[in-house]
Amino acid sequence: MKKDFLKITDIDKKEIDALFQLTKDIKDKLKRGETYHPLKGNTLAMIFQKPSTRTRISFETGMFQLGGHALYISPSEMGFGTRESAADIGRVLSRYNDIIMARLFGHDGIEELAKYSSVPVINGLTDLTHPCQILADAFTIIEHRGSLDGIKVTYVGDGNNVANSWLNFAAQYPLKLTIAVPKGYEPNADMVANAQKNPVSEVEVVNDPFEGVKDADVIYTDVWASMGQEAEAESRKAIFKSYQVNDALVAAAKPGVLVMHCLPAHRGEEITNSVIEGPHSIVFDEAENRLHVQKAIMVALMEQSK
Ligand code: CP
Ligand code: NVA
Repeated sequence: MKKDFLKITDIDKKEIDALFQLTKDIKDKLKRGETYHPLKGNTLAMIFQKPSTRTRISFETGMFQLGGHALYISPSEMGFGTRESAADIGRVLSRYNDIIMARLFGHDGIEELAKYSSVPVINGLTDLTHPCQILADAFTIIEHRGSLDGIKVTYVGDGNNVANSWLNFAAQYPLKLTIAVPKGYEPNADMVANAQKNPVSEVEVVNDPFEGVKDADVIYTDVWASMGQEAEAESRKAIFKSYQVNDALVAAAKPGVLVMHCLPAHRGEEITNSVIEGPHSIVFDEAENRLHVQKAIMVALMEQSK
């Protein structure tokens, strides 16, 4: 039966660990210069309603490295949900392609696409979640720290799709997760409740960023205005000002704290140049791992869908 990857709660800890092992194997093969073409002859359709650097290029490059081919469908082309319904697009693309990846505004759109597609569908970001990002982030932390056992991750900033996916991850995989956000900008309430009712991880939402980063092993941030919220960008600057990841906030965490950002970053807003370019930052390891993790996701979905 075909499997989709729409949110991290679609997979359990055992499956996440298996994905991380596969990611490591795939990454090692690439570093050794070995050819690995399990998806030879397969094609990936990539639908974008929003811009992208990492997601588009890592999926496209990853598919090529796996022996397949990827097709980029730009925001102006397909008219997802306007020129044609998600249901019809899903059924048509399933006749041409072996996998579909989509970056959409509404999360309903990806659910509808998956419902009508007979091939695996991967969520490359919606307004609600960004699951590929958080799997790559968790894998990066494990590379740096050996495991997530007892690791405290503090997400500072806007309770957006990235924060939501951290909550979904914490519902499946044990760690300590603190989300520090201004009042009124909390992450999705159902995802908070699900992560908290689940005894897997210690999860808290706080409003004070300094309280949030106390004893943190990882400080994570993201833009204050996500794609689609451009009109609010100016007003949000004032609201989020005290949530900037700067030298003072980093100094309030554990001494060897890792600093992460999914990128693109707005230096001088959610993170300072000194922090993102400084010794704590692992943002480019994180960006690189999008490639390796997504290759593992595609291989695993194709394998499970046989
Ligand atoms: N982090 C991330 O998804 O980057 P892009 O928006 O450039 O794809
Ligand atoms: N929260 C950001 C993430 C970008 C990768 C956005 O949705 O724009």
